[in-house]
Amino acid sequence: MKISHTELNNLTKTAIEAAQLGGSILTDYAQKGFEIQKKSEINLVTEADLASEKAIVDVISQSFPSHQILAEEKGLHTTHESPYKWIIDPLDGTTNFAHGFPMYNVSIGVEYEGTMLVGVVLDPTRNEIFVARNGQGATLNNIPIHVSTTPKIGDALLVTGFAYDVHTVADNNLKEFCEFSLRTRGMRRTGTAAIDLCYIACGRFDGFWELKLNPWDTAAGKLIVQESGGKVTNYKGESFSIYGQDLIASNGLVHDEMVAVLDEIRTSD
Ligand code: IPD
Ligand code: CA
Ligand code: CA
Repeated sequence: MKISHTELNNLTKTAIEAAQLGGSILTDYAQKGFEIQKKSEINLVTEADLASEKAIVDVISQSFPSHQILAEEKGLHTTHESPYKWIIDPLDGTTNFAHGFPMYNVSIGVEYEGTMLVGVVLDPTRNEIFVARNGQGATLNNIPIHVSTTPKIGDALLVTGFAYDVHTVADNNLKEFCEFSLRTRGMRRTGTAAIDLCYIACGRFDGFWELKLNPWDTAAGKLIVQESGGKVTNYKGESFSIYGQDLIASNGLVHDEMVAVLDEIRTSD
């Protein structure tokens, strides 16, 4: 991979600019109100998701017209091929946003031939911006961050999430949630996968697992965890793809225990 520092910095600058614009749009809608529609029974989309996506895509396509752009609400915004792919969640935490629960963010990742180069997650309600550049570490508001040093799940604070088919499928993560609740110091559910990953990166959580995430949920956060010294794999402990189904992210130290517990829960019955 031959990406110069200047190019990495230019990509990062545009990702931050686009995330800040998206974040300010979310803040505006949170103040003035917005319409909500249902994609399915419990999967919502608001005016804010759509407006944030449009503004972010406009910023990126002006700076990098030849790059591919994939975003949650409209899918692929480009028809041409490119080794560069921007992967965008214009509002991660839509259910929280729709209920006025202040935990949501904008997530933007830049991939080059399948390798994540840049990840930016902006939380507009706390004014927190997480940024990672491939090979150059990760920061929170420009200060370098690192994962926790919690050695075992008995002392760990873990987090998970549930896919929108939780009401209708048997493999809905509730068994896993119950079991980890009994084996850890505590369990949380924030309702935003990108924040879950960033909170692993800065040591606020020790481990995170979830099924059926989409590339826009994990593109930026995966790199942010890895660049802060953490580990990201699938449920088997193998290499994680943002296009895959199952994810474990952790401080590295509790990872094998999480793999083992998930295996034990999912193979028992
Ligand atoms: C959702 C959130 C949530 C996770 C869901 C995602 P959205 O994204 O990240 O934490 O549990 O699986 O779909 O719909 O709010 O962008
Ligand atoms: Ca999402
Ligand atoms: Ca979203």
